[in-house]
Amino acid sequence: MKPKVLVTREVFDETLEYLGAHCQVESNQEDVPFEPSELARRLADKNGVMCCLTDRVDATLLAGSPQLKVVANIAVGYNNIDLAACTARAIMATNTPGVLNDSTADLAWTLMLGAARRLTELERRVRNGEWTSWRLKQWLGVDVHHATLGIFGMGRIGQAIAKRAAGFDMKVIYHNRTRIASDLEKRLDATYVTKDELLRQSDFVVLQVPYSAETHHMIGAAELKQMKPSAIVINSTRGGVVDDAALIAALKDGTIRAAGLDVFENEPRLNPGFLDLDNVVLAPHVGSSTEATRRAMAMTAAKNLVAALAGAPPPNLLNPDARRS
Ligand code: DGY
Repeated sequence: MKPKVLVTREVFDETLEYLGAHCQVESNQEDVPFEPSELARRLADKNGVMCCLTDRVDATLLAGSPQLKVVANIAVGYNNIDLAACTARAIMATNTPGVLNDSTADLAWTLMLGAARRLTELERRVRNGEWTSWRLKQWLGVDVHHATLGIFGMGRIGQAIAKRAAGFDMKVIYHNRTRIASDLEKRLDATYVTKDELLRQSDFVVLQVPYSAETHHMIGAAELKQMKPSAIVINSTRGGVVDDAALIAALKDGTIRAAGLDVFENEPRLNPGFLDLDNVVLAPHVGSSTEATRRAMAMTAAKNLVAALAGAPPPNLLNPDARRS
């Protein structure tokens, strides 16, 4: 008997083919997100689930899924999963690190460049017919080259963002829970600084820390006040790392210059205050959304799921204790 698995959102044909060779698959190719009660009903007899950041995998859901052995998230971030509750029930949880580093770093850079050069605002003006002549002082932006890039979170994606800064002759500073190895610092030409130093010195403040209770609102009114009035904030990690209401106030009153955001609190129902602002570039959580990367993420999750159900260590196991217990 093949193990039973649920795929909670639409995936690629090759993902389903691969899963189908190893499992009995119930999929959701219609891509209508399951309500929590529907997800619970469908998981009651499943051995594995492949899910996304839109699915909340909490202790209650796990308690009602007695056959479940593995939760394979199609994302590197896993704040939608209660990892401790998984471990307590010997349920393995996995994510998809690595395959999305470059695409996510590219998007962070898209936001930096877009916010610095006011790209989405100016595109709106062109479409509205506001561009009637060339003027020397027209819609001036700020330079990215030779500016100071401050990165909070120097994990794999943070490093990919830093690497790209060399082409722009930027000074790179970073703050991380643990300082990275000195040879890596050298290769990235990145200098470790305190949180306060990063906030005070950076022209671009890029957030790439995972979301947790510890990083909730790590950028709020007080931190925004510490930044230069010319600073540009980029959030390419998770909503909730930034206090969106405080950011809106800071963008409105000139505490900082601009922002580029791919993620929001309560997304996709973002704070309407953002919609009235010209100095913010808004993207709909598409950091990893290139065809190649999303295919690679789905296949990585599928391989994690199949390995776990075959009794092998899944390549991207988040809670090794679940396997030991
Ligand atoms: C991730 O992998 O965590 C991304 O946010 C999903 O696109």
